Amino acid sequence: MLFLKLKYLLYYYKSKSLKKKCKKNYKNEKIEFVKKLYKKKFSNKWFLNNFEIFNFFLPKDKNKKFDYLEVGCFEGLSSFYVLSEYNYVNAFFLDIWDLPNPNSKTLSNDFDSIEKAFDENLSGFNFIKIKDDSVVSMRKLFKQNKSFDFIYIDGSHNGEDILSDAIEAFKILKIDGLIFFDDFLQYDNSRNIQSYEGISKFLSLYSNYLKIEFFQNNLVVRKKI
Ligand SMILES: C[S@@+](CC[C@H](N)C(=O)[O-])C[C@H]1O[C@@H](n2cnc3c(N)ncnc32)[C@H](O)[C@@H]1O
Repeated sequence: MLFLKLKYLLYYYKSKSLKKKCKKNYKNEKIEFVKKLYKKKFSNKWFLNNFEIFNFFLPKDKNKKFDYLEVGCFEGLSSFYVLSEYNYVNAFFLDIWDLPNPNSKTLSNDFDSIEKAFDENLSGFNFIKIKDDSVVSMRKLFKQNKSFDFIYIDGSHNGEDILSDAIEAFKILKIDGLIFFDDFLQYDNSRNIQSYEGISKFLSLYSNYLKIEFFQNNLVVRKKI
């Protein structure tokens, strides 16, 4: 991880200062969003750690039409944020929920109730829900000629899975579109390949085709023209 941080040191420090600014600038939006969660069913609020920087990269115009894909929705906290903020978002939410991927470490949750909570939390909104493995689903989306302006990847954090997710997501990302990765600098000794090792391969393979916009525990890349 140290080697990766050194390689991208400039991005790392630039992003650190952007993160600090965003924490300040989006403080009130975060307070307002947290108030909306009062009657919802969220047992985990991981997304709140990314709230400010996620906001920074989402469209500033809340009436903008854009194509959004989320990989790994859990109870739908980030999904709820996008749907409640953007009036014309064309949103696709994808998660495997109770169909475990044998290669991935799964969270020790009752995924039947997690999926039910997702359905309840998002009831009344318009969106496409896909219940399947991320790679399989993104390949299907590619075959259907779907493409996205913003892809949030928060599925399996195994290095090999995140690398496959990144490769499939890149195929269905529009030119100038963004991929936002969660928690890629997190170390977990139960994983054979760490997230950052997968991402590091992705960054080397695609270095000519992408621009790094943000590099901290979240990574944001833009598809170059
Ligand atoms: C950390 S949670 C996502 C949190 C969510 N974005 C939020 O804001 O609360 C990770 C999710 O990825 C899903 N997941 C793990 N491996 C997957 C795979 N291979 N395909 C699709 N989803 C997967 C899990 O079922 C889990 O719900």
